[in-house]
Amino acid sequence: MSDLEARLQQLETQTQSAISQISNSAELETTRVAFFGKKSDLTQILRGMGGVPAEDRPRIGQLVNEVKARLESAFDARKTEILSAQLDQKLAGETIDVTLPAPDIHFGRRHPLTQTLDDIVRIFSNLGFSVVEGPEVENVYYNFDALNIGPDHPARYERDTLYVSDDVVLRTETSSVQIRVLENRQPPVKIIAPGRVYRREAVDRTHGAMFQQVEGLCVAEGVTFGDLKGTISTFLAQLFEAAPGSGGVQTRFRPHFFPFTEPSAEFDVLFNGKWLELGGCGMVHPKVLENVGVDPEKYTGFAFGFGIERLAMIKFGIDDLRLFYENDLRFLEQF
Ligand code: DAH
Repeated sequence: MSDLEARLQQLETQTQSAISQISNSAELETTRVAFFGKKSDLTQILRGMGGVPAEDRPRIGQLVNEVKARLESAFDARKTEILSAQLDQKLAGETIDVTLPAPDIHFGRRHPLTQTLDDIVRIFSNLGFSVVEGPEVENVYYNFDALNIGPDHPARYERDTLYVSDDVVLRTETSSVQIRVLENRQPPVKIIAPGRVYRREAVDRTHGAMFQQVEGLCVAEGVTFGDLKGTISTFLAQLFEAAPGSGGVQTRFRPHFFPFTEPSAEFDVLFNGKWLELGGCGMVHPKVLENVGVDPEKYTGFAFGFGIERLAMIKFGIDDLRLFYENDLRFLEQF
């Protein structure tokens, strides 16, 4: 074996071991330059081939080429290993854990009273009622006189009513809207009037100094108490989502007195085994019709009014109406 062959063999062993120890891309580069670059031993040997005796040249030339090819393919294999290990490491670092809980997305929601009112409007719209509104600061005439509430009726006393002046009050009931509507329209009239009302009440679980009512009014020829009962029963069944025909929601009517209706009744719903009062109703008093220029011989009508908070309390199982107005997110986010 010539010196050159011995040198090549040694170079191959040395280079193979250097390649096998490469552990990162920086070392890849230094190894490439050291063993394959212009100044490397291998390049020197190739350049020196001219000095090899002619009879040895083919053999040694072939050997050099074989050594070079083996080293290059060992280097390429190591390079591939290192690059793919690097890629694996990078991918592992970027892994997304799809089982992690998603960040909490906060959606706004409708207030339970708004939800209840939206239901009320939807159900009555389907029954042919349109929605009207009236002023919260109201003349005594609309709040009392025209509704046949006499000058000595206790509801007028200051302990119940918030007076703005002698003739002006914060309305104590949405019934005032009945008068405003009938003043401007001839029957047939079929409206509901939702809105805020105000009373000098001590605030507790079931009473507020401000609360919301929905008034209903239907005046036409031949309207009867049966129409009133059917309307209210249908409404309550739909609001509390009793399946039709299931006998679900039970309602009852009790005789009562209101100055603006005759006969009058209060209606209750059976809730958790107890009768709960929801509101008042009756056939519009002939005097009220006369007050607005509607002929009571020709037309009859029914009216009703109930508290929206009460309906929402039953619908959502809430036992304190003050919660509706405290804007506590822990409460509001439950609906
Ligand atoms: N306005 C009555 C109240 O606030 C409720 C009411 C009773 C309204 C009978 C009516 C009615 O329209 O006919 O207590």
